[in-house]
Formats: sequence, structure tokens, C-alpha cells
Amino acid sequence: MKKDGYKVAVVGATGAVGNMMIKVLEQRSFPVSEILLLASGRSSGRKLKFKGEDHPVQELTENSFAGVDIGLFSAGGSISAKFAPYAAQAGCVVVDNTAHFRMDPEVPLVVPEVNPEAITQYTVRNIIANPNCSTIQMLVALKPIHDAAKIKRIVVSTYQSVSGTGKDAIEEMLNQSREIAQAIQWSKDDGLDGLWSSLRNFRTMKTNVYPHRIAYECLPHIDVFLDNGYTKEEMKMVWETGKILDPAIKVSATTVRVPTFFGHSESVNVETETKLTAAQAKDLLSKAPGIRLWDDPVKNQYPLTALAAGEDFTMVGRVREDTSVENGLNMWVVSDNILKGAALNAVQIAEILIEKYI
Ligand code: A2P
Repeated sequence: MKKDGYKVAVVGATGAVGNMMIKVLEQRSFPVSEILLLASGRSSGRKLKFKGEDHPVQELTENSFAGVDIGLFSAGGSISAKFAPYAAQAGCVVVDNTAHFRMDPEVPLVVPEVNPEAITQYTVRNIIANPNCSTIQMLVALKPIHDAAKIKRIVVSTYQSVSGTGKDAIEEMLNQSREIAQAIQWSKDDGLDGLWSSLRNFRTMKTNVYPHRIAYECLPHIDVFLDNGYTKEEMKMVWETGKILDPAIKVSATTVRVPTFFGHSESVNVETETKLTAAQAKDLLSKAPGIRLWDDPVKNQYPLTALAAGEDFTMVGRVREDTSVENGLNMWVVSDNILKGAALNAVQIAEILIEKYI
């Protein structure tokens, strides 16, 4: 570890994840000697706070990385594709939050609670990839189960918040929700006909971010559709689980965007080689790193986005045995997608990097 600290660049500093990266660096007292806040030319001249001081946002260019030790990238896949190689070339270790490098065999894909040792391989390209938000929280929860009983198959359905799409999506959901809530005059004495016809007026509401209205709706569509009928977000969970946890595990995923602000929720079903009772699974989960077991249904205690938002831990609850197979478990997993799903995981990777490698 360098005595004088590290020069750290945040690429996409004005975005939802970039903003959070700055906060996490500050909150975890990451040894930053100098911070460089990079975004598009549109943001030049803006100032952002780091440790109580204003720092100017600068335009990202090919020459931004001279003398930079670590670059935290979260400005979109095409930006990483173009600029991460310039950063790496300049000697900066890139921790990339986009999907662009994740499946590159020369780039480690890391969840610190699951496969921290994979970081060693960063030297090949000077790039480390941060996994997809939904994959991260699922694997934090499943690592202790896999270690104890060897997972054979995972069936997961996600309920992902709009913040995962960025600030424009948060704004779109807020605007649509306000417009609909203000326009619909309905009380329970009115019957349902009026409500149906009012809602019908909003079927073709103007959208900028999503293909359909997201307010008061669930969209079974995250990222692009692929030839096999799955979305890319679904296949990311399949591919990344193989790379991070175990290539022998079969994964079937359905990913859904829901009108929540922060936090992704997941219904996770696993089939294991050996039997784990729900009590055994809960015991393992309660001791595993990065997990808060919150599972007391009698008291209505189970993971909620409201409880996980702003927190570092992944919440796990509703742990129960699958009655349809011999060795199966169901659980509900919730985590802050901007924190553990993105910014926190990236900073944790950087922490391991400075502790052990640079
Ligand atoms: P900017 O604010 O200047 O557009 P979000 O995911 O919340 O929408 O944020 C996206 C982030 O990526 C923002 O910081 C945005 O900067 C940044 N970004 C988008 N396009 C570029 C680009 N061409 N060069 C650098 N940063 C970009």
C-alpha cells in the first residue's frame, strides 16, 4: 500500500453510480491523495463535493489518466470500451462497472465475498470487472450455500428498481407516477370501471427511457432481447455465475423492472447436491460475510428495499425448503443495487487491490 495515498479517477462521476462511488470512497476513508471527476463535456464546469471540498468535473478524454492509480468506471459500456484501454495503457488499474469486459477471459470478474483471489489476474489487462448488480447480491447469498451443499441449479426471478437504469429513469418514473396519481380521481365507492378506463388513457404514455410506462407497471424486459428469447440481463446472471462461482451450476433467470427506487429484490430457488434444512441454511447465512439474515415471518420480518436501501449488506429472508424437490431451498434476497450492486463492490475491489497488489 502506498503511504501517500492513491490518485483515483471516477468516470461517470455525475451519474447515479458515479455519485455513489465518490460517497463510498469518502465514507470508507479510502486513501485518496487526489480525486479526478470525469464525465461528458456537458458536465464540464460543474462541481461535486468530495470530503467537504468542491472538485470540478472534467471532460473524459484519452489523455485523462496520466498519473492515475485507479479508475472507477461507470459511464456506460461504450465509454468503457473506448477509454478503459487508454487508462490501462497509462498504468491505471480500471475497475469497470459496465458489462463490457465481464466475460473477457483475461479480465477478472470479482465479488469480494465470493472470489477475491481472482483479482490476481488483473495484471493481464489492468482491468477488473464489477459484475452485474443482480448477480452480485445473488452470489453473496449463495456462496455459503454452495460451499456447504454444492448448488446444482438456480432458478431466479428479479424485481429490479429503476435506479439501476440511471438518473433519467428515476426521473421518468417520478414524472409518470405524479401525472397518473394527479389525473386519476377515484375513490373506493366508484367501482372499478372508472379506474380501468382512466388507466387505459395512460397505456401509451410518452416514454424516454423504457419501452413502456414504468409507473404502476412491471416490465419483464431488462437490456436487449437475444436470439434465445432471454434478455441480456438474464443471460448476464447465467454467464457471470459460471465465471464467479462455479461453471457447473445451471442458472435459469427472469429479470423484471419494477417501480421501486432503490434496491433489487430476488426470488431465488436452488437445488443442491446434498440436503440442507432451512435451519441449517439460516445458520450458515447468519455467519456469512456481507449478509444480514432478516427472517422472522411471524413478526413480518423479511427483506425489503426500504430496509436495504443505503445499507452495505445483502438482506436474506423467507428461507424455506422447496417442497417440490428433495434438496431445494427458496429465499428472498434484497440489496441496494447502487451500493453493493455497483459502487460499494467496486470500492471493495479497489481496497483489496491496494491492500495486496499496488
Ligand atoms: P454526464 O452527466 O456528463 O452526461 P446515469 O447512469 O446516472 O445516467 O449516468 C451516466 C454517467 O455517464 C454520467 O456521469 C454521464 O455524464 C456519463 N457519461 C455519459 N456519456 C459520457 C461520455 N460520452 N463521456 C463521459 N462520460 C459520459
